[in-house]
Amino acid sequence: MPPKRIGILTGGGDAPGLNAVIRSVVRSAERLGGFETWGILDGFEGLLERRFRPLDRISTRGLVRRGGTVLGTSNRCNPFRFRDPDGSERDRSREVLDNAREAGLEGLIVIGGDGSLRIAVELVELGLAIVGVPKTIDNDLAATDYTFGFWTAIGTATDALDRLRDTAESHHRVMLLELMGRDAGWIALCAGIAGAADVILIPEIPYRIEAVEATIEGRAAGGQPYSLVVVAEGAVPVDGKPSYVSEDAGDGHPRHGGAGERLARELMPRIEHEIRTTVLGHLQRGGSPVPFDRILATRMGTAAAELASTGRWGRMVCLRGESICDVPLVEAAAQPKLVDPRGDLVASARATGITFGD
Ligand code: F6P
Repeated sequence: MPPKRIGILTGGGDAPGLNAVIRSVVRSAERLGGFETWGILDGFEGLLERRFRPLDRISTRGLVRRGGTVLGTSNRCNPFRFRDPDGSERDRSREVLDNAREAGLEGLIVIGGDGSLRIAVELVELGLAIVGVPKTIDNDLAATDYTFGFWTAIGTATDALDRLRDTAESHHRVMLLELMGRDAGWIALCAGIAGAADVILIPEIPYRIEAVEATIEGRAAGGQPYSLVVVAEGAVPVDGKPSYVSEDAGDGHPRHGGAGERLARELMPRIEHEIRTTVLGHLQRGGSPVPFDRILATRMGTAAAELASTGRWGRMVCLRGESICDVPLVEAAAQPKLVDPRGDLVASARATGITFGD
């Protein structure tokens, strides 16, 4: 009997560690003797267009340290609400099922964030066999303690803060750094602590411009005429709204942008320092994964391969404490994981002198 065949796809935004998961699934499956793996190109789009590529030990060589995804990805393709070029929407989910069956795929491993995993849940309801692997640099999925890619993004953002500090100190400037994270402040909070920012503004703690001004002026009065301010892209002023570039980015989310510039505009008339704003943007998404993310991605890939080879479908792998476990896939689409304003991370930041603009 030929070995069973499983498809693997990456959906949503790229994150460091995606390639390490792909490599781990392929190799673990070969070891388990469980199945052969077919890569599906460009997320769910490739499944609709039947773009497949067999993967093996050779073709996944060297992937543990490569950023991005060799399979390609898309965060614009939802088979349930497929958007035609004229903007109209139609349901093409049945084609996904038909194409998977015709390709002889017994099931799928979907590596994605909340959007892709929500699509996976809907496909499971239609009868497709799926195992999920959570991914996002934002680390905002409640079902897992960490997603791979997060600590790589923190490393990049911390390095940026270290560099901005040099200019802040030399020129006596206020340097603002806008970081990603959508509606969650994890990247801003963790990078801000690691980079010893003076102010961190996150969506979970709405800010008052007067409080930010007071921190900057207080530092100047105390002999430190410069400040480092980290602004999450989803940061909100009290009684205000997040700053969006567009309300619908085509992936079911608004597109964030402008939080740093807005803060700079608000601060300008209030303080004498020169202000400069840096938007780190997609630099946070690329690059070689740090060892923690390589290891987490590898462990998750092995766990996903085990679930698929033993037919335990409709589950998502996750990290709980020190252990890799699995939970029902529907949990992936549950409430997002946000920063607890009363949690120990925020408390420790405050204790070491960081303010949150509240
Ligand atoms: O979810 C990951 C993320 O990088 C967010 O932090 C950011 O808001 C968004 O994706 C950007 O998406 P895109 O690459 O589609 O502009």
